[in-house]
Amino acid sequence: MSTHIGAKPGEIAERVLMPGDPLRAKWIAETYLEDAKCYSTVRNMFGFTGKYKGIDVSVQGSGMGMPSCSIYVHELLAEYGVKTIMRVGSAGSIQEDLGLRDVVAAIGATTDSAMNRQRFDNFVDYAPVADFGLLRTAVDKAAERGLALRVGPVMAADAFYGDQPDLYGKLANYGVLCVEMETAALYTIAARFKAKALTLLTISDHILQGTAMPAEDRERSFSQMAELGLDTIIA
Ligand code: HPA
Repeated sequence: MSTHIGAKPGEIAERVLMPGDPLRAKWIAETYLEDAKCYSTVRNMFGFTGKYKGIDVSVQGSGMGMPSCSIYVHELLAEYGVKTIMRVGSAGSIQEDLGLRDVVAAIGATTDSAMNRQRFDNFVDYAPVADFGLLRTAVDKAAERGLALRVGPVMAADAFYGDQPDLYGKLANYGVLCVEMETAALYTIAARFKAKALTLLTISDHILQGTAMPAEDRERSFSQMAELGLDTIIA
């Protein structure tokens, strides 16, 4: 096992779907994977491997925020030979025309996290971007499903409960679509390991409008994104 993942070598597939919530990982495995086996329960951050449409796929929870996500992404890539990670998460919209239940593919991630500044010696503002091939496949697969997929930049924030009321308005003016908490770390670490990464996000709340998706809609909205993620990752 690695420090935080209890899998033996070979138990994790080269393709990994990564929700933040470990119970979502369990739900995806139980709902979509054949012969799913749990390979890790360390810290209850569950991971499963099974087959989706005949192809080996793993599903691994990342936890919330870049410090937690970085640990799982790094260990998957450095110690288990993972080649592709597809984050499937939720985000808060900061654009008036991006509503609850809409699905976003993150082309790049702005961040206030200090992790990347530390990584580049406080000298360079690295621009974390999605893998172009995966993004193109996601766009094609979304079109096949008749799913409106919005492609654009996102904000990967360190704090869920921040205290800078003007910040999101300003980011929105610069084209940022929504706020989540993991993608800058995912894209940066994937690049370091020459792996492919893409984040798909369902808008679960609207930061400007102060609205949130009703609980009964969450599973249905999450499923269409999970299916898009799975179809993309096996293509
Ligand atoms: N902020 C950060 N992450 C999120 C949000 C948010 O408003 N909604 C869902 N994930």
